[in-house]
Amino acid sequence: MIEKIKRLVAEVAAFETDSSEVAEEFRVRLFGKKGEITVLFEQFKEVPVQDKRVIGQELNVLKTLAISKLKDIQEKFKKSFKVDLSLDLTLPGDPMPLGSRHPVSLVKNQIIDIFSRLGFTISTGPEIEDDWHVFSALNFPPEHPARDMQDTFFIEQDPDILLRTHTSPVQVRVMEKQKPPIRTISPGRVFRNEAISARSHCIFHQVEGLYIDRRVSFADLKQTLLFFSKEMFGQDTRIRLRPSFFPFTEPSAEMDVSCTLCGGKGCNVCKYTGWLEILGCGMVDPNVLDNVGIDSQEFTGFAFGMGIERIALLKFGIKDIRLLFENDVRFLRQFTSAL
Ligand code: PHE
Repeated sequence: MIEKIKRLVAEVAAFETDSSEVAEEFRVRLFGKKGEITVLFEQFKEVPVQDKRVIGQELNVLKTLAISKLKDIQEKFKKSFKVDLSLDLTLPGDPMPLGSRHPVSLVKNQIIDIFSRLGFTISTGPEIEDDWHVFSALNFPPEHPARDMQDTFFIEQDPDILLRTHTSPVQVRVMEKQKPPIRTISPGRVFRNEAISARSHCIFHQVEGLYIDRRVSFADLKQTLLFFSKEMFGQDTRIRLRPSFFPFTEPSAEMDVSCTLCGGKGCNVCKYTGWLEILGCGMVDPNVLDNVGIDSQEFTGFAFGMGIERIALLKFGIKDIRLLFENDVRFLRQFTSAL
């Protein structure tokens, strides 16, 4: 072993090269995984105790010499770097692929942006909720079918702890804490015990809005939603409100926008009706205001709620909601330049 070390010391001391490839080969030959110095250090473990001191010293001489030699050679190449004509600095650099925002985030940000311009603040709340904030405070009668196991994922019962089925509970929390005027939207993830299909998913996102002040009217609601629809889908967009029912609003309505594809003429996206349903809305039921300690004699308000995925599907002409959850980069990459 000692002979081998001495032979290598001599070889390293004499080593010279002008080629960086040869230098690299030399480095690998000595220090690579199966390099000679690496192997010697492996073998050193097996050396009998009485020989360890002498061999160890020689081995260290070799190692130190080899390292300083390699350093010198590297220095040399660094200095000669400037005159290395094989390197063309005018070539373009390697492209760095940029990520893209998820279509749901794009649409959510756009909705937030539109309502911010109308003075709405953003509020968030927990995804795991209690019965009071999701149902009772919102005037759901105890036997209301929406509380049914069909729609709600319950986590615990008596008292009920559950995954929120809409983001209205965030607004209950805001009303409990804050005095009117209140003008806020709550974007967030919601959960419903539904079969997954091309049109619906058990997890999706909503943005709900709430405006409470003195003398807020249905006309304010309609004007707000018209402004939103034009900003979102284009200035030619028309809206219509159809009577509907929600426990927490009275009167309640569902809002359609003129079809984003055919503009109202009728096509297979709007099923030849010319209209697409995009949100629920209404005047906050006085019972809800009373439940959260806001005087329903003095204040009125409106509320609305929409599914972000549905709007993303319409806006981008996506046919299957499941694409929004699979995160296939070939799908997501197509939104690099969107919005
Ligand atoms: N919370 C309702 C839902 O989840 C939407 C809605 C909000 C309807 C506000 C009317 C007013 O479907």
